[in-house]
Amino acid sequence: MVTLETIVSLAKRRGFVFQGSEIYGGLRSVWDFGPLGIELKRTIKDAWWKYMIQEREDIEGIDTAILMHPAVWQASGHVSGFTDPLVECKTCHNRYREDQLSSNLSKCPDKDCDGDLTESRQFNLMFQTHMGPIQDEGSKIFLRPETAQGIFVNFENVMTATRKKIPFGIGQIGKSFRNEITPGNFIFRTREFEQMEMEFFCEPNKADDWFEYWIDFSLKWFQIIGLEKKNLRKREHSEDERPHYAKAALDIEYQFPWGWGELETINNRSDHDLKNHAEKSGKDLSFFDEDSKERYIPWVVEPAMGADRTVLAVLCDAYREEDLENKDKRVLLKFNPIISPVQVAILPLSKNEKLAKFSSDLYQKLKKSFRCQFDVTQSIGKRYRRQDEIGTPICLTIDFDTVEKDNCVTLRHRDTMEQIRINVKNVEKEIENLLANF
Ligand code: GAP
Repeated sequence: MVTLETIVSLAKRRGFVFQGSEIYGGLRSVWDFGPLGIELKRTIKDAWWKYMIQEREDIEGIDTAILMHPAVWQASGHVSGFTDPLVECKTCHNRYREDQLSSNLSKCPDKDCDGDLTESRQFNLMFQTHMGPIQDEGSKIFLRPETAQGIFVNFENVMTATRKKIPFGIGQIGKSFRNEITPGNFIFRTREFEQMEMEFFCEPNKADDWFEYWIDFSLKWFQIIGLEKKNLRKREHSEDERPHYAKAALDIEYQFPWGWGELETINNRSDHDLKNHAEKSGKDLSFFDEDSKERYIPWVVEPAMGADRTVLAVLCDAYREEDLENKDKRVLLKFNPIISPVQVAILPLSKNEKLAKFSSDLYQKLKKSFRCQFDVTQSIGKRYRRQDEIGTPICLTIDFDTVEKDNCVTLRHRDTMEQIRINVKNVEKEIENLLANF
């Protein structure tokens, strides 16, 4: 199993993820996505949108504001209930989540310190700020800690605008913020992160079935984007672990380098959110079922996953080190091509003018259909290694024969390293075929 240090180092070296504000010494647990990282995250988000929204008739998309009326967070229970138990070391003043310490630990877990810990107190995870120039109680607002509430407050708007009937869902991708006590493990737990959440509104007595349905759907989706089944598992929440809004909750976990960690939670939120928003806003958020002639507040089943955590999982899952026959070692990211940040690399063998022109024309053409990179620097061997290390499934090499003799390019397969010559006329079809059956 790859170490986290190896992934962090590759991520920086190849431009996936950088430390946030690095030139100022960095900001703890804040990360910036570089050119390849943002492509990777975008392909993951696109794959989620495609399977969750675009290809389904029962789910609509939305993009709601990060800033919301403060009453939203009162009604949702986040002001009173979105807390973690915090303890502080009286000597070194490090802070810890009590529920993450081994039970009955009353001393600082830092062995060099061993100071006494304070009593635990509930710490609210929401970031606060002020709206407008006056900073008083009345101007206080929160940065959203989940994208879900933007969906609940728009339930009625979406249902009316799209003439949807229960059951149906609303999904969105967006930033959330949590003032985590113990962020860490690279991009696994951060204070600013992106979520991909879908709230599925259903009949109360169908919620248990939908809960199972969305667990299966999510497990399949993680495998579609390339995660190995053996590295995924389900873990049901115990009653005292569930979020304040959930009647039932189950995590899909991934085997990260440090152990199993949550990738996604599927919550049965019952009518908690719509009922509370209806009560606090005075707006009727019930649904009238024309067939049964019954009026009820829909229940909600929610598959909620993190985009950044999924990036980390696919990086860990794809990482391989292989010994080559010449005793060299190659590092490769065996991404599923649907999420590879670069799908095709175009590599002219030399900087010769004829080769450059041919390769540039090919690049201009192919980049309209595929995520392409053009690379002319260093030896072809080094360029292959570079493309392996960023997970590019296909390399195309253009040589003198290409322009002087046969109009053929060399196509190299990332995983087998096999090379075939193909006529440039057929190259697009061949790439399409290969990417679909990689
Ligand atoms: N709306 C439900 C909800 O927010 P959650 O389990 O708190 O549920 C859903 O969050 C997903 O968001 C998690 O499974 C995880 O992938 C991601 N996530 C939560 N907190 C995170 C953090 N501090 N850093 C990165 N990702 C986080």
